[in-house]
Amino acid sequence: MNGDDRFKILVTEDAIQERVRELGVEITRDYRGRDLVLVGVLKGSCLFMADLCRHVDLPLTMEFLGLSSYGDRTESSGVVQITQDLTHPVEDMDVLLVEDIVDTGLTLDFLMDHFRVRKPRSVGICTLLHKPSNTVKDVQLDYVGFTIENRFVVGYGLDYEQRFRNLPYIGYVED
Ligand code: IMP
Ligand code: MG
Repeated sequence: MNGDDRFKILVTEDAIQERVRELGVEITRDYRGRDLVLVGVLKGSCLFMADLCRHVDLPLTMEFLGLSSYGDRTESSGVVQITQDLTHPVEDMDVLLVEDIVDTGLTLDFLMDHFRVRKPRSVGICTLLHKPSNTVKDVQLDYVGFTIENRFVVGYGLDYEQRFRNLPYIGYVED
């Protein structure tokens, strides 16, 4: 299916959709009356962002940040490069960063620094997945879809060497 059937399913398509809906309801409640801008971190958050925003019942705006770690390694180095920056200022706005997965936390730690200089009113984090066992930088996660074990996962935006982002579920390779 969608190019590969070698994966075991960790989170089903239905479970993802249900959880994303719940997150959208929470965000709607928390950000009512504020000036919300969802900032999707490319490429991994593209599917999550597309589904999540449809469950946030607010007049929000959307921005995307292109990030790339050096190389196609499966381990995070924390050395990230901004390949595409925001197209509108976020000063005085309530930024909610939308991420696919927080592993070591190094990427988000870098991003939080990157945002502070733009003087948003607030910066929150919404991640679909969290792997707490690899934490190096302890960043505050405001919304977490699923907390998972220390496994390399693919699908629903997450890649292995740029592939398998289009799987509708979260899968992993069994050892
Ligand atoms: P961190 O900087 O270690 O928190 O890693 C964050 C980035 O590493 C994520 O945004 C992903 O792009 C990538 N990453 C970490 N774990 C996985 C995984 O299990 N599958 C796919 N990508 C991952
Ligand atoms: Mg990512």
